[in-house]
Amino acid sequence: MSFPYSLKPFNTFGVEQSCLSLIEVHSKAELQSACLSLYQSKRPMLVLGGGSNIVFTNDFNGTVVRVLSKGISCSEDDTHFYLAVEAGENWHELVHFSLNQNMPGLENLALIPGTVGAAPIQNIGAYGVELCDICDWVEYLELESGNLRRLTVDECEFAYRESIFKSRLRDKAVITAVGLRLPKAWQPKLAYGPLQSFTAETVTPREIFDRVCEVRSEKLPNPEVLGNAGSFFKNPIVSAATYMQLAARFPSIVGYAQPNGEVKLAAGWLIEHAGLKGFTLGNAGVHAKQALVLVNLGHATGQDICRLALHVITRVNEVFGVKLEAEPRIMGLTGETSLDV
Ligand code: FAD
Ligand code: EPU
Repeated sequence: MSFPYSLKPFNTFGVEQSCLSLIEVHSKAELQSACLSLYQSKRPMLVLGGGSNIVFTNDFNGTVVRVLSKGISCSEDDTHFYLAVEAGENWHELVHFSLNQNMPGLENLALIPGTVGAAPIQNIGAYGVELCDICDWVEYLELESGNLRRLTVDECEFAYRESIFKSRLRDKAVITAVGLRLPKAWQPKLAYGPLQSFTAETVTPREIFDRVCEVRSEKLPNPEVLGNAGSFFKNPIVSAATYMQLAARFPSIVGYAQPNGEVKLAAGWLIEHAGLKGFTLGNAGVHAKQALVLVNLGHATGQDICRLALHVITRVNEVFGVKLEAEPRIMGLTGETSLDV
């Protein structure tokens, strides 16, 4: 380890890398002042939440700022509950808290690791709900001006695993708080497979929460046991024509029609049917139960994981002509990099 602080406890892949310095911030004010002074000093900085969507491919020659700011404030009007949540709150604990307060609406997003502040970045989603469905606003520190700004949900440019924070505001914004808006007239979201057996008229938010937790625990490896970052690839979206051609050749292919006519393919199916489920390369592997998840089988390095990811991308492209894209953020010596390290 070439730098003094280990990052192993702070990334769910459990990759052993280090950083030059590490700061833990416990309030919005501390988050603002730490990030502003690092930004102004032009030294490499990484804002880190739960480390559940990141691959360290190298030691980091800069400062890691761990976001631990806490606080949830609740209000309501005739139609909605409103939650204003500090960036360092744990996402799953927030889901639990809102259910206990009889403010349902987050139950489909149970058990997603990480912080509230990271949730808008890739517009977290699971079991038929995405953050954008319940997001009211996102507050962020604009690094250039030092001001706090607030974006409405429309201004966040949310899309599948995308937002303005991954495009125009990349490296320019630190999310400090998130506002959620939950309708009092709760409607269960039961479209996703394992939830379809519930009856909309009788199901409770708690039952959905429990079922989501159960299904997730069966499918996804627990990072404390087997290092991983959830789905390693986004589900690729192809044109209707491409989907028809693929479905003619591979009748069991799994695809979901999108509102604009395009089709989202299940990348897990593509990887499995390219023969890669359970495939290993060095200490990194394609999870034997869920091919969309890459895992650390022991002492994998970030480079092992990236090498395996590139192999998966190449094979899937050879077999299906579809190019997969990585979901986690790849971090190098001084900042974000690509799989090709
Ligand atoms: P980190 O990994 O710490 O950071 C991710 C990126 O966001 C980094 O680039 C970091 O610099 C940046 N960042 C973090 N906080 C801030 C901030 N406050 N301001 C600015 N930038 C910031 N995702 C889903 O969408 N759906 C799922 O169902 C899902 N399931 C998962 C299951 C498992 C087992 C695991 C390990 C991961 C899963 N994920 C899922 C991915 C992950 O949980 C989400 O992407 C989560 O939002 C990441 O939060 P984090 O705090 O760990 O972010
Ligand atoms: N499949 C296979 N083989 C596999 C894995 C999956 O054939 O090895 C098939 C399944 O049978 C199913 C389809 O692929 O028909 C979809 O699988 P699943 O429902 O498990 O969902 P996913 O596409 O693998 C996505 C998200 C998850 C989210 C779940 C539930 C992405 C990239 N992943 O996974 O999010 O939890 O749906 O909504 O969109 C994450 O982003 O990290 C993540 C875990």
